Amino acid sequence: MVNQAAAQHVSVIGLGVMGTALAKALLAGGHEVTVWNRTAARAEALVSDGAKVAANSAEAMAAGDLVVLCVLDDAAVREHLEPAADQVRGKVVVNLTTTSPEQARSLGRWAEANEVELIDGGIMAVPEMIGGPEAFVLYSGATGGFERFRAVLELFGRAEFVGEDLGAAAMYDVSILGAMYAMFAAFRQGGTMVRSIGGSAARLSELTAPFLQSVAALLEGFAPGVDNPADYVQPQSDEFTAAAIDLIDKSAAESGNPTELYGVLRRALVGL
Ligand SMILES: NC(=O)c1ccc[n+]([C@@H]2O[C@H](COP(=O)([O-])OP(=O)(O)OC[C@H]3O[C@@H](n4cnc5c(N)ncnc54)[C@H](OP(=O)(O)O)[C@@H]3O)[C@@H](O)[C@H]2O)c1
Repeated sequence: MVNQAAAQHVSVIGLGVMGTALAKALLAGGHEVTVWNRTAARAEALVSDGAKVAANSAEAMAAGDLVVLCVLDDAAVREHLEPAADQVRGKVVVNLTTTSPEQARSLGRWAEANEVELIDGGIMAVPEMIGGPEAFVLYSGATGGFERFRAVLELFGRAEFVGEDLGAAAMYDVSILGAMYAMFAAFRQGGTMVRSIGGSAARLSELTAPFLQSVAALLEGFAPGVDNPADYVQPQSDEFTAAAIDLIDKSAAESGNPTELYGVLRRALVGL
């Protein structure tokens, strides 16, 4: 994907499967990209795409006006960023490593003390999707830095800024993933239930996927009930929802399947 961003000097620290995809998107977008990876071979593999390879992480960070980190975890970020305070002072640093909201805020305190404009990011894509139409990345933190480099960041996928609180991107990230895991857990449970009557999870998936796509559109109408419960008139009563969940629970119990999940859903949705 080529966008209209003027060519920038960008550093990419960490070239695992995701960091490599990010670096390739930047190179394809026409930017000057300096890379570093703990295992050097992964950096050398990008030379033919036009990347410059730095001898160490501090040297890589010195080369970029925008510094992107995508390593394993918060500990690896700190291991390389903190000793490079002089190399990143006055720059925009985007941390695309998955961290918790409090880890992001804590790194923000370090960044503020070292005059770094920090942006935290949560990538909502797998590496193959980077730069494609379905990929999006959540960002929070330094708005000025985000706006300055927005066109560059959009090379990764749609750039969604979710707040100045550095913990915001991580909190939206885990909340989206939580919805996904809840869906998979319920599908696994349903698959066991239909198998107990001679059906299959494969058939259930054919029937469930289009249904879930249509009900996902109802989330927008459901959200005001969470944001402003006092002003919200829900279309379905708690009594109705509780009865519907109890029926699922009863059907699971009748067929000898576990029911814990439905008790949890009932408490989460109607509070009892
Ligand atoms: N893959 C995905 O689908 C996906 C999606 C969303 C977010 N993410 C996030 O992106 C980040 C990177 O994930 P990935 O999929 O690229 O993982 P990966 O392929 O396992 O790569 C991990 C990277 O971290 C580096 N690393 C680990 N410990 C390090 C240390 N102490 N110092 C320096 N570098 C270190 C590794 O270097 P070596 O090459 O030397 O081992 C490698 O470059 C993670 O935070 C992940 O949660 C990934």
